[in-house]
Amino acid sequence: MVVVAQISDLHFDGTAEHRDRVTAVLDYLDHTGRNGTPVSALLLSGDLTDQGAAAEYAELAANLVSDLPIVAVLGNHDDRAAYTAQFTGTPSIAPVNSALRLDDLLILGLDSSIPGRAEGELSDGTLAWARREIAAAGDVDVLLTWHHPPVTIGMPTMDARGLRNAADAAALVTEHPNIVGVVTGHVHTPAASVFAGRPLIVAPGVASTLNLPVEGTGWVNETQGPGLAFHVIDDHRLTTHFRTLSRW
Ligand SMILES: [Fe+2]
Ligand SMILES: [Fe+2]
Repeated sequence: MVVVAQISDLHFDGTAEHRDRVTAVLDYLDHTGRNGTPVSALLLSGDLTDQGAAAEYAELAANLVSDLPIVAVLGNHDDRAAYTAQFTGTPSIAPVNSALRLDDLLILGLDSSIPGRAEGELSDGTLAWARREIAAAGDVDVLLTWHHPPVTIGMPTMDARGLRNAADAAALVTEHPNIVGVVTGHVHTPAASVFAGRPLIVAPGVASTLNLPVEGTGWVNETQGPGLAFHVIDDHRLTTHFRTLSRW
């Protein structure tokens, strides 16, 4: 059994409000590690910053203090050049894809951002890279993460900004029975669906929670604290537990 934590949509923007919400979920993870079995990895599923500014990535680097191996992907609010400048020292506009191998699990973080656009796409190069990584890993479970959900989730404004080449992503999933699920962010709401016959999980937003139309006309749901997800991978099956920090 492997347990992986996911936080999403941190939107570092220089404000104490957003910084404090990130700190709260990281404190919760530390609490879990001190009193129980630490999680094996931490996924950051995009919109790490609000404007993709260098100062915001510096704020992310200063505040994201964790001993866990991290898989980070970029969202529509991020900037590849600013992100890579901060974390590799060399600015690059190429898609930011990364792999993390745990004992019996391969985690792939795929870049679904399109520079200057709100919607997402997995480029041909990113999809080819994912296929190579999965082939090289052999007989292990695979968990995929990227930012934009590839299915409609019932929030029209966000559904208009989803993954525009979902069929290409579905082909990748269908080709590989060892993919246990896809976990995304972007829509700032904890949600569960199905994609290409596998679980499609959306992590709660750390910075905010967005309303469904049935909850009212306001864009942001002010009653919800920052949240996180725990993904349990066991017996080739993904089971997700959501937490929302109620003391917020
Ligand atoms: Fe976001
Ligand atoms: Fe987003």
